[in-house]
Amino acid sequence: MRRISFSPPDITEAEIAEVAEALRSGWITTGPRTKHLERRLAAYIATGDNTVDTEADTAAWSNRVVCLNSATAAEELNLRIFGVGPGDEVIVPAYTYTATASAAIHCGATVKFVDIQKDGDAVTHMPEMDYEALAAAITEKTKVIVAVDLAGIIADYETMFRIAEEKKSLFRPVESDGTPLGDLNHRIQVSIGRIAVFSDAAHSLGAWRTFRGEKKYCGAIADFTSFSFHAVKNFTTAEGGASTWKPIEGVDDAEIYKFYQLLSLHGQNKDALAKTKLGAWEYDIIGPWYKCNLTDVMAAIGLRQLDRYPELLDRRAQIIARYDAICDELGISHLTHYTGDSRSSGHLYLIRIPGISTERRNEIIELMAQQGVATNVHYKPLPMMTAYKSTGTDIGDYPNSYAYYENLISLPLHTLLSDDDIDYLCDTLKMVVKDMKLC
Ligand SMILES: Cc1ncc(COP(=O)(O)O)c(C=O)c1O
Repeated sequence: MRRISFSPPDITEAEIAEVAEALRSGWITTGPRTKHLERRLAAYIATGDNTVDTEADTAAWSNRVVCLNSATAAEELNLRIFGVGPGDEVIVPAYTYTATASAAIHCGATVKFVDIQKDGDAVTHMPEMDYEALAAAITEKTKVIVAVDLAGIIADYETMFRIAEEKKSLFRPVESDGTPLGDLNHRIQVSIGRIAVFSDAAHSLGAWRTFRGEKKYCGAIADFTSFSFHAVKNFTTAEGGASTWKPIEGVDDAEIYKFYQLLSLHGQNKDALAKTKLGAWEYDIIGPWYKCNLTDVMAAIGLRQLDRYPELLDRRAQIIARYDAICDELGISHLTHYTGDSRSSGHLYLIRIPGISTERRNEIIELMAQQGVATNVHYKPLPMMTAYKSTGTDIGDYPNSYAYYENLISLPLHTLLSDDDIDYLCDTLKMVVKDMKLC
């Protein structure tokens, strides 16, 4: 029997050698490798080109990427840079991972869940928000809509920006509290002038979609975007993540970048690299903030992952084509990762077996496990989780999210799967659903 794990990291000798170099370099915390990765990611997000690599090339690219130690930190810092706090409301899909919502709660805001469309988007079947319900949930307190590019498929930002424009008259920019960060928050909110549209792009680095008639890569669509580089993601630094934002009229990117640095490094006005200059010991703390920077050891993994990333995305596309074929043969509904005007990053493969209960779904997961195949469920909707139930949220108010989850299974999708593994996995799925008389 084969053993097929769910999503092991794909690490080669190239990543190992770069980590060893970083360790030998004498600079292991945030430093040159992190800064280099930020610039390379900025070029990649702007153009889809992963080969921009030398210092001279990368200098041409924006400083609108900040590497951090997780997507959760990136989401929270995005909210803090925009100026979300107590009294504000943040709209989040009910169907997502907890970090999409918990980051807003950490900022003191109130999360308002919105149900997904029935069976997800009509073309991709991605569990996207119900946009009528989203529009209806907006109040004078709403500051941000956080969309999730679940499984690597980019959500419908054109519709979300249209709704944010239509509701512009309700938006009240935050007043400055007189601090430098409060002043920045005020200027950003005045400049954007409407509810901000954020992207939880934990899954979708490298995906693109036609947006307002142009091909745009993930990170260049929403006002603010957060990526995850966690070990199970397509692109990993073991733990890690990044924030990026679209240019904001009248606010300098360098100023925004500086505040991300301050928020992620104790509010200390000199980073470790600046403090190594002889005699330059003195620093100030301008806010009692966080410690969530990415280290150069982790950035070393990311630099070499980025070299390989287009190949990794192509391999994912090959596996997805095989899964699409077997699911279509068996009458199992599945995500559509590639359409005429979008390309997903192919992060997760979600299938839904028509008409089955959660018990039957769990039986399939168990039978697949007995054959050595690890599967998963992405996600149990947040209103079913203790932390959110205890604040009065009831899954009964999110019937489409429940129905989507009820019969859902995530198949293993990663770049260590061989063609033989995929044959085995497809045969196992076929055998299990036929034995259970589900097709
Ligand atoms: C949709 C989504 N958002 C955010 C996160 C958080 O990512 P991280 O673990 O890098 O904080 C995850 C992690 O799985 C996720 O799936």
